[in-house]
Amino acid sequence: MSSPTPPSVPRIRPRGRPVVIAIDGPAASGKSSTAKWVAQSLRYRHVDSGSLYRAVTAARERLGDSPESWTEPSVLAVTSTVSLQPTDHSFIPLLDGELAEAEIRGSKVTREVSRVARMPTVRNWVNEEVRRVARGHDVVVDGRDIGTVVFPDADLKVFLVADPWERAKRRLVQRYSRKPSDAEIAEETERLVQRDSKDATQTVQARDAVLIDTTYLTQTEQVDRIVALARAVTARPGDTSPVDDQ
Ligand code: C5P
Repeated sequence: MSSPTPPSVPRIRPRGRPVVIAIDGPAASGKSSTAKWVAQSLRYRHVDSGSLYRAVTAARERLGDSPESWTEPSVLAVTSTVSLQPTDHSFIPLLDGELAEAEIRGSKVTREVSRVARMPTVRNWVNEEVRRVARGHDVVVDGRDIGTVVFPDADLKVFLVADPWERAKRRLVQRYSRKPSDAEIAEETERLVQRDSKDATQTVQARDAVLIDTTYLTQTEQVDRIVALARAVTARPGDTSPVDDQ
């Protein structure tokens, strides 16, 4: 078995192949917002793989029957109504050709998405969609298994972790734009921990990923760290960068 490439060593990338930066981690670890800002800084496009699982879940929910009765083929069938649309800095999911952000981020979808994400044929579909859009653009992809399954050869792999209480607090501040009470944080922490356990099988840190604990980092610090790592690992011979000076 070949040993993993240490994260600080630039990988040899075939000339012309788009860059892939993989950011994985548990729910509410700040992956998506961090990945979005990293993509903007580097002028790459952000792909949120979780948003595809959410879009498929929302599409299946639109059929109206109880989630307990969802079979894998019936979920796979609705993937034909989900597509990824390019914007300046991202690829965003469309449902029946339309944006459905509020629906895919809603609590109904959040409750059922892990059930859908456990279906192997749905996982294959999501993985192929993400790989397809990454063939033509430099991307920052966030998810659970991007560095292990979707892009095992990613140019840079980052695994973000944070204390569950802090993750819950950040999520509530984002949701309500105010300071949450301790009782609210405790309730949200419980929900997050439950989702972590449902998603545990697919949430895997790649052996060659850089682990960043964001509990005591600001968003800007997280983004700056990842952008600096990305610049180092994607530097080409002849580029002036700290890596070349070593
Ligand atoms: O990232 P987010 O929490 O929005 O993802 C929603 C759900 O999609 C997760 O709870 C998980 O079940 C699933 N997911 C996954 N693999 C990924 C990304 C997300 O299983 N790469």
